[in-house]
Amino acid sequence: MIKIRVPATSANLGPGFDCLGLALNIWNEISFEPANKITYHAKGEGAEKLNKGTKNLLTKAFTYVHEICGKELKGFNIQAENEILMSSGLGSSAAAIIAGLYGANELLNKPLNEDELLILATDMEGHPDNVAPALLGGLVVSVTSDDEIITRRYEIPEWSIVIVKPNVEWLTKTARAVLPKSISRTDAVYNIGRAVLVVDALRNSDLELLQNVMDDRLHQTYRLKHISGGMAAYKTAKQFGAAALSGAGPSIICFVPSEKAEQAKTEIMFRFEERGIATKALITSPSIRGVHRV
Ligand code: HSE
Repeated sequence: MIKIRVPATSANLGPGFDCLGLALNIWNEISFEPANKITYHAKGEGAEKLNKGTKNLLTKAFTYVHEICGKELKGFNIQAENEILMSSGLGSSAAAIIAGLYGANELLNKPLNEDELLILATDMEGHPDNVAPALLGGLVVSVTSDDEIITRRYEIPEWSIVIVKPNVEWLTKTARAVLPKSISRTDAVYNIGRAVLVVDALRNSDLELLQNVMDDRLHQTYRLKHISGGMAAYKTAKQFGAAALSGAGPSIICFVPSEKAEQAKTEIMFRFEERGIATKALITSPSIRGVHRV
């Protein structure tokens, strides 16, 4: 039997659409125990939905590694204890994919290396920005090339991070469908420089710079206008620190001075709650670790 932990991740971080992602100290813990058939049981976040069957992203990824490596898969009892909010923009799908791939690879004595795991994960997820930090930990810049994914990983200092998730229906598929098919050169240039500077600010604990450059013209406005209370919450978050839509949303992520975290959380939540929208919120920090055995 093995047990692993996989972190939540926040992708985009404002201007780094599909390229930037940060691992967070929010974890799903999964154990794999040999058995006669595959069973799956989750506790915590998403348990009700996940426990409806054994086919989910984690078991698919777990089976996929066995197929690719030509190994017979007899059975496993897979138990998950989930902290990562689902459908929230915190990389719950990426965490499931990475957990399935990594768990299978460990149990088969590591036939695949990290680069190969990342390629499989990106194929399953469609883009590398969540799966890369879920695998590697830290702040990760990733770009897809012809047959490889080029990544650079940075261990950033402590940051106090507020996450607020409104309880609204918001599918990643919809979140991508509302984006324009093409963008202007002005908007591309706007994002390129800011994406570089977001990395610099995060690495150097420079909140003032982060507040000035964590802005975007490729996805946030298009998405926020479809998320009830989203724009108001985002604007409130910006008053406390550097804010962005986490991944494709609907959560708002806000980097704040630690002494302001509680107040920021309460006021961002209020922007949704005054519209009758329930929220889940937490204060977290970056994780330099990605998926690992415990
Ligand atoms: N980069 C992705 C997006 C993250 O914004 O759509 C969510 O999967």
